[in-house]
Amino acid sequence: MAQSAALVNSPRTQWFTRRFASMTTTFFIGQIIAIVSLSALLIFALAKLVSRQGCSHVSDGYGRAVLITGCDSGFGYQLARCLDHKGFVVFAGCLFPEGVGAQSLARQSSSNLKILKLDVTNDEDIQQAKKIVQESLPEKGLWAVVNNAGISDWAEIEWSTVEDFHQMVDINLFGAIRTSIAFLPLVRAAKGRMVYMSSIFSFFNCLNMGAYSVSKRGLEAFADCLRVEMASFGVKVSIIQPGNFGRATNILKIKTGFDIWEKLDKERKQVFNRQYVDLANEYFVSSCRTGFENPDLVIDAMMHAVTSAQPKYRYLLVSVTDMFFFKLFPHLPTALADAVFSLSSMYARRQEMLYAK
Ligand SMILES: NC(=O)c1ccc[n+]([C@@H]2O[C@H](COP(=O)([O-])OP(=O)(O)OC[C@H]3O[C@@H](n4cnc5c(N)ncnc54)[C@H](OP(=O)(O)O)[C@@H]3O)[C@@H](O)[C@H]2O)c1
Repeated sequence: MAQSAALVNSPRTQWFTRRFASMTTTFFIGQIIAIVSLSALLIFALAKLVSRQGCSHVSDGYGRAVLITGCDSGFGYQLARCLDHKGFVVFAGCLFPEGVGAQSLARQSSSNLKILKLDVTNDEDIQQAKKIVQESLPEKGLWAVVNNAGISDWAEIEWSTVEDFHQMVDINLFGAIRTSIAFLPLVRAAKGRMVYMSSIFSFFNCLNMGAYSVSKRGLEAFADCLRVEMASFGVKVSIIQPGNFGRATNILKIKTGFDIWEKLDKERKQVFNRQYVDLANEYFVSSCRTGFENPDLVIDAMMHAVTSAQPKYRYLLVSVTDMFFFKLFPHLPTALADAVFSLSSMYARRQEMLYAK
């Protein structure tokens, strides 16, 4: 008896008892964590299912209208054709309604597609376009506005003027803001979609893209805030972020090293030598020529944003091999993100050539 009591109270037995008790507690906590995670997952899946049922896929566009800006060429032109094909009434905003692009779009489309004169920097154009849209809306109203119009240019910040920044922002950012404010009441009435054509340069900071990045980062800030405000009205907001599709559209504006050099003042000419400007120009043009030749990836994403029951908040459109890098990039600490560029041969050449005679 005394022997068994001694055994029960022995340090070894007490150690086992404590260990068993602590294992039971750990097991119990583990179970609670598992149950809570599983319930959260189930609630999330259920919420997704319910929201999916509440909102139907727009399989054909019958009775619905879409306004697209910048349809003279590129993504806007292609999207207008696809939506027309799907039976939507398409209001195709064009900078030059009598131009080659707009006329070819009109010829290739059904009578449901209407070309509108729409310079997104011009308030009168926007009001006039709104009047025409309102007068000829089909029964289900204005389902979507695709803010696609845009320009691009490249230059180091010190090679640019304030006017260069102003022009870029006026088209790429304020153009979308003007259009959105004017047409939102119509889209809200249809519980429809607002789509914004951004770019990877909204988050990818690199040489030469200052003005473009400012315009696209601002555009995303606008779209993100709008998404929060519009959620209670049932309007969904999507952002499209294409990578390099320079060969698939007319976005590339080719310029020469001479064009850039001539714009520099005396002080800048002493810092950036002429050879570097030529090299940077060649590098930029050649890297643009390595981009996608086919716009389908972007057009499919735009179609998804307009027609899917569950449009994505963001569509990142880069090659499969680049996807991991671009997904990771925005989450890198700034110092690490900046260091990525120091690995590029162009950065090293630039470093060597600055101030050189
Ligand atoms: N292609 C790419 O690699 C790429 C990558 C990322 C993002 N994006 C974005 O995609 C959008 C469409 O560009 P895109 O590549 O299809 O190039 P695009 O072929 O040049 O198309 C842009 C269209 O916008 C029009 N536009 C220019 N200024 C305008 C204004 N003030 N008002 C109304 N329309 C105007 C252009 O007309 P004109 O031709 O007469 O100038 C052109 O039809 C842009 O927002 C661009 O920033 C393009």
